[in-house]
Amino acid sequence: MASEEEPLRIAILGCGSIGTAILEGFVSHAVRQPESMALSACVTSSDSLIRLRDALGERCKHVTLGFGREPTQDMAEQADLIILACRPQDLVTLANTLGPRPTYAGKTVVSLLAGVSCQRIRQQLAAGGVRKDMSFVRVIPTIGARTGNSVSLLSYPETVSQSNIELVKRAFGKIGTVLTVPEELMSKATAVGAVCHALAVLAVNKITDASVAEGIPRSTAMALATQSLSSAAGFMAAEEGGITAEQLEAALSTPKGITLNSVVNLEKEGAGAAIGEATRAAIRYAESM
Ligand SMILES: NC(=O)c1ccc[n+]([C@@H]2O[C@H](COP(=O)([O-])OP(=O)(O)OC[C@H]3O[C@@H](n4cnc5c(N)ncnc54)[C@H](OP(=O)(O)O)[C@@H]3O)[C@@H](O)[C@H]2O)c1
Repeated sequence: MASEEEPLRIAILGCGSIGTAILEGFVSHAVRQPESMALSACVTSSDSLIRLRDALGERCKHVTLGFGREPTQDMAEQADLIILACRPQDLVTLANTLGPRPTYAGKTVVSLLAGVSCQRIRQQLAAGGVRKDMSFVRVIPTIGARTGNSVSLLSYPETVSQSNIELVKRAFGKIGTVLTVPEELMSKATAVGAVCHALAVLAVNKITDASVAEGIPRSTAMALATQSLSSAAGFMAAEEGGITAEQLEAALSTPKGITLNSVVNLEKEGAGAAIGEATRAAIRYAESM
């Protein structure tokens, strides 16, 4: 297993939307510190490979790319972390591709599959012939991984060793922050992250459009909206000196000020209740998946 000084050997099996995002995040790290990582990634066809090469451009030389049975098995065999980034319905095919190589023993499998428990991953891989004597953990990263800004949720059964968990945290720590949650809260936490992203996108879009309608250039409005969100979030997330949402609202609420007026208007339009209800609906939806 890779110690802090040894390169992290990571194989990403499946490189669509999220697989490519984490690969790009890892590659950016590997470009800065080529000795720190050995990366490989596979897809299912030559067309997908071309798409992936186009996405990586020059950075391609930092990754071993491939498709098909032998390359996929070799990548898994040579990795410390085997990251599964296919859709749940493709898991059995992927398991058949991986097969029962004895050299997989003791490796850590990181599943990114939303809504699929560690136990189900283990069972489905075993049904396809993959060995059971590996550690299975779940990570739900976000698309921000591409720029090193993922908010990755991590959960794992108690049976997984601390050194394996540290390895997973070390890897995903390179592409953002890692929050550990109990597995029974994974779907709920995934839903909360999804709502926050949806809200941020909606808020930036609506605020930008309204600002442009009032005469502010689109690029300025967009920069204002995104950087204000990031600044407020940074304040609240800061480990030292971080403040709660209520404290921030109070700090921004000058009597008769613009911010407090905006809050009053948003509440009058029912925004607070709508956000609460959307969050609970997203949690219910995620749990029904
Ligand atoms: N999208 C997100 O933001 C996000 C966030 C967190 C977790 N997730 C989870 O991540 C998983 C993937 O989501 P996605 O949105 O990235 O899906 P996607 O865009 O459809 O990508 C799936 C990838 O899996 C590959 N694949 C399928 N079968 C394979 C096999 N047998 N061997 C190797 N690769 C195989 C596909 O290859 P081809 O390219 O050749 O078709 C494709 O690259 C899902 O389970 C989802 O729940 C997604």
